[in-house]
Amino acid sequence: MKVISFINMKGGVGKTTSTVEIGALLAKEHDKKVLIIDIDPQTNSTLSLISLEKWEELKDSSTIADVLGMNKGMSSREEEYDINNAIVRNVGGVNNLDLIPSHLELTFLDLDLVSVPARESVLKNKLEGLATEYDYILIDCPPNLTLAPQNALIISDYIIVPVVPEIFPSIGLPLLVNRVHKWKRSFRECNVEFLGVVFTKVDGRYSMHSQQMDALRRKDVIDCFSTVIPQNADLGKAAASNQPATMTHPYCNGVESYRTLVKEILRKINS
Ligand SMILES: Nc1ncnc2c1ncn2[C@@H]1O[C@H](COP(=O)(O)OP(=O)(O)OP(=O)(O)O)[C@@H](O)[C@H]1O
Ligand SMILES: [Mg+2]
Repeated sequence: MKVISFINMKGGVGKTTSTVEIGALLAKEHDKKVLIIDIDPQTNSTLSLISLEKWEELKDSSTIADVLGMNKGMSSREEEYDINNAIVRNVGGVNNLDLIPSHLELTFLDLDLVSVPARESVLKNKLEGLATEYDYILIDCPPNLTLAPQNALIISDYIIVPVVPEIFPSIGLPLLVNRVHKWKRSFRECNVEFLGVVFTKVDGRYSMHSQQMDALRRKDVIDCFSTVIPQNADLGKAAASNQPATMTHPYCNGVESYRTLVKEILRKINS
């Protein structure tokens, strides 16, 4: 089992879209068993894969908030909460793509767990039973490095950083890299590595995009995938039907690029 977290402290760069499309492609076209964990209280990947009605049904007993022991509902604070209760199977119309939905309560995770010992490892302890069930766990992180993404990092093998090649990422990226390395030094059981930057929302007509991509590649702060994801409205449309674009627009430019990216990711992980 490999665990990949999608992280960038900047918002709106395609973390959620990448998690959902890569997850869908791994399950649908590479015969992998995939679990997406949504640890962002914005619940974007959750609602890209299940309907609001379904989420309403689940939200009091079957979300990441229950897994992390913070839901005030029924099952909640019990030590023995079984993570399987929070797994929704075959989401978004994709066989072998499972989801642990998020919850708005996650906003208060840092406050709720302030006095819990080893609070960065709550998810790790719950996940142990799943190692044999999944080939890939993909974690959709919020745009920060608070306790929820720290719980993701500690169990991750790899980090993928989606980046829109505008002016600010080149400033933010070294900061992210330094933070993660600093944090890793204080949690020795954490072996996470940067797998690479994936450029997203790339507009070929916009020279600033190619300039920024060149500049970041030259800087050599992190490896950059050679596949880039173009600006493509079809990628955003799919969420309205609670399905990945891989299902609704399987041959649009955006999905074709994610398809190539997934092959590049698999080559990189296996090499
Ligand atoms: N390649 C793309 N082309 C066009 N639109 C895109 C592309 N990738 C993502 N989007 C759209 O941009 C918006 C932000 O994308 P997304 O939610 O994936 O970013 P995010 O990094 O997860 O944001 P947040 O930090 O808020 O969680 C969404 O409306 C999404 O549909
Ligand atoms: Mg997101």
